[in-house]
Amino acid sequence: MRRKIVAGNWKMNKSFPDAEELIAEIADKLESMDTGHQDVILCPPYVYLEMATDIAEESVFSVGSQNMNENDTGAYTGEISGPMLTSMEVEYCIIGHSERRKYFGEDYALLAKKVDAALRNGIRPIFCCGEVLPEREAGRHFEIVKKQLDESLFHLTAEQFQQAVIAYEPVWAIGTGVNATPAQAQEMHAYIREQVASKYGESLASETSILYGGSCNASNARELFSQADVDGGLIGGASLKADEFLRIVTSF
Ligand code: 13P
Repeated sequence: MRRKIVAGNWKMNKSFPDAEELIAEIADKLESMDTGHQDVILCPPYVYLEMATDIAEESVFSVGSQNMNENDTGAYTGEISGPMLTSMEVEYCIIGHSERRKYFGEDYALLAKKVDAALRNGIRPIFCCGEVLPEREAGRHFEIVKKQLDESLFHLTAEQFQQAVIAYEPVWAIGTGVNATPAQAQEMHAYIREQVASKYGESLASETSILYGGSCNASNARELFSQADVDGGLIGGASLKADEFLRIVTSF
């Protein structure tokens, strides 16, 4: 059975004390919740990862980073590597987020290297894909998502691919308050699963968790997650408050 997952991408938010308070509150509340059927992943900024993994040791959530460098070590001032993340017990890394593609020029080839770096270090990539509005309006959304998968993820062997989680995040839905409709999400998730099936076979496709991201919140999560191919969410803004985030966690 593929896993249901709710992951919080905090992006560049929160001071250290606020981050610590939020993570502690989430951990505290998770203790009295039945989360046996879903995985919870928190992706705070790099500088809070060690604090997060310390708290995670006594809790049921896992910790992910929002990015990583494609090299394992060396003269790359300001960068964070896979071995550094692994040494802090970080289990996941978001790779290919549209904000990294847009603001940091991360292209297909670089993202493929980052996916490799994650796997080389035992970190599970949460690989993001999704089209911008003009691409959807032009009816090119399937083609765009296919290209993103083909160029940066589908070079993996089946054994490596098993470790990956996919997140479909239509860029026009991120931070806009306009989520994809459940039907739009389902249509794309089914398409992504089909692509995985044609590359890796039906069995692996049916085990792959495909998350939805883009203005997903406590009010719309249940309907989105009820779609057959939507296995949970990658949550931005709504992951910054414990109660709202945990309402999403229990929206299956
Ligand atoms: P929002 O939930 O704020 O729209 O962000 C989604 C996102 O980008 C998660 O990675």
